[in-house]
Amino acid sequence: MRDTKEKLSNLTIALHWIVGITVITMAIIGVYMSENEAFELYPIHKSIGVLIFAVIVVRVYWRFLNGWLQPVSAYKAIEHNLAQIIHWALIIAIVVMPISGFIMSGAGGHGVSVFGLEIIAAQFDPVAKEAIPHNKALAYFMHEVHEIAGWTMIVAIILHLAGALKHQFIDKDNTLRRMLGKKLSK
Ligand code: HEM
Ligand code: HEM
Repeated sequence: MRDTKEKLSNLTIALHWIVGITVITMAIIGVYMSENEAFELYPIHKSIGVLIFAVIVVRVYWRFLNGWLQPVSAYKAIEHNLAQIIHWALIIAIVVMPISGFIMSGAGGHGVSVFGLEIIAAQFDPVAKEAIPHNKALAYFMHEVHEIAGWTMIVAIILHLAGALKHQFIDKDNTLRRMLGKKLSK
């Protein structure tokens, strides 16, 4: 069993915060742009989503290579299980979100580019002024996946944040300190 007093590796910490902060930003942009039809934001959302996927692959590989973190101290079983379920939901969501987004846009004929570099070409009907889907059913299904997984992930992030705040201000333990790269003294 890993020594819980040990400092977390810099890679564990960097991957958690790079992916965490990017995913929160992506969720805010995603909800805002689809609610307000802010089409100028779509290329930015897609570009960041494709790029962060490369980091997500490393993050998830690293997590399974190293196993889950040991809790900082002994908590009630229910609390530990809830945290584990939320961590699983977050890990699954960060894989599902970029993949479903990529397939949705690609299959829908909208195309995918990374800051101007075309990865999947758009198919546009100039008369009807709309995208021509390559595979309408797949695009529709992936749109549903992106939306449902997106909202599930948002709920999981809120619960995760609430857990981190509980550890910090109610339990007053070292959980957040450790994730900020501090060596634990007790
Ligand atoms: C500002 C927001 C966030 C804070 C304050 C925060 C805080 C923490 C803390 C303190 C831990 C350590 C838990 C432990 O030691 O048991 C942790 C672990 C974890 N966090 Fe976050 N987190 C945030 C955002 C996110 C986001 C957005 C995601 C994913 C989308 C995420 C995914 C995870 C996962 C999967 C773990 C389990 C350990 C690991 O795989 O590295 N976190 N987080
Ligand atoms: C970490 C990666 C990603 C996250 C967290 C994310 C998150 C979200 C969220 C929360 C929404 C709003 C869902 C809704 O309420 O309908 C959204 C919408 C959208 N996302 Fe993503 N996304 C990611 C990656 C991608 C990628 C890689 C693409 C395409 C290449 C993409 C394309 C889109 C599009 C086109 C919409 C708007 C859908 C509509 O207009 O209904 N996303 N995204």
